[in-house]
Amino acid sequence: VRVAVVFGGRSEEHAISCVSAGSVMAALDPDRYEVVPVGIARDGRWVLPEPGQQLAITDGALPEVTGGTAVSLVGDPESRGLAVLEPGAAVGALTEVDVVFPVLHGTYGEDGTVQGLLEMTGLPYVGSGVFASAASMDKEFTKKLLAAAGLPQGDHVVLRDAAGAVCADPALLDEAARARLGLPVFVKPARAGSSIGITKVTDWAQFPAAVAEAAAVDPKVIVEAAIPGREIECGVLAARGSGLPEASLPAEIRLHAGVDWYDFAAKYLDDAADFDIPADLTPEQTAAVQHAARRAYLALDCRGLARVDFFLGAGPDGEDHLVINEVNTMPGFTPISMFARMWAATGVDFAELVDRLVSGALS
Ligand code: DAL
Ligand code: MG
Repeated sequence: VRVAVVFGGRSEEHAISCVSAGSVMAALDPDRYEVVPVGIARDGRWVLPEPGQQLAITDGALPEVTGGTAVSLVGDPESRGLAVLEPGAAVGALTEVDVVFPVLHGTYGEDGTVQGLLEMTGLPYVGSGVFASAASMDKEFTKKLLAAAGLPQGDHVVLRDAAGAVCADPALLDEAARARLGLPVFVKPARAGSSIGITKVTDWAQFPAAVAEAAAVDPKVIVEAAIPGREIECGVLAARGSGLPEASLPAEIRLHAGVDWYDFAAKYLDDAADFDIPADLTPEQTAAVQHAARRAYLALDCRGLARVDFFLGAGPDGEDHLVINEVNTMPGFTPISMFARMWAATGVDFAELVDRLVSGALS
């Protein structure tokens, strides 16, 4: 089976995608799968990367797709695959592939755009389709769909003007909304990942700069109330055969003392957190997290895989209060990323995990 592993991309999470793809390619069993690595440069060019493309974070330096031979997807049902675009020639040799694994995070990758392109070529691909990808990438619409399914989430406001148009004007968060949300708030680009563009605001004087920073990533800005509680994640994976969602054992991220919140550097560059895999939860708490994770996956029409991120706090009555923070349709596969490690703790090792994902896309 020839698997095109697509990575890099135009989003701010370019480097993280490269790292994720390195892990995925290493996990694909060479006896079963022939990997065709396909990079997307930051400017959107699709390339066959040079051999030896660096795909790890080394000494804090982030990997990036550069150079390589240009390629394009071909959507002819008879000869679907990747065409190598040789300089001077219209279309060069065609490399047929059986399935695409878009290991892309963020916009132009995890948001339905690449999924739409793949639908049009007719190539099967791993993971969620156009709608679930777009809905899960957009924190506003994720929350709307989760709310419609009765799933718990935190208080939030999307900055829109009186006519309802997206508008990154800090004055649009009025006094009543500020009082309701309280401090701190997290100001986020509505469609991004890896905490890029997010500011934790502890004083309203910081709010305009935080809105500008988020709006530099996405004109749609969402302001979320801080949710006190433990940071819990849960992996969801489609079962072989039925495709029904199965949930992994949940894990917990425990930030080291002095680390304020789980930002980009804390995630990927600093030794900022301990990971409990599985999380130290009661059987009832574990079941509640797994149930909510599967329901969120279904509410968003996800396919193949997702990682659902939660806060587990205590409600006013002292009872557990479980809130869904977000749903990632192509969770990180970096060495520190939780998705593969949660599944390993659940009894599905990394080779079996990627095999389930690729076979699921082909079935
Ligand atoms: N967006 C990053 C890759 C994650 O959710 O793991
Ligand atoms: Mg995310």
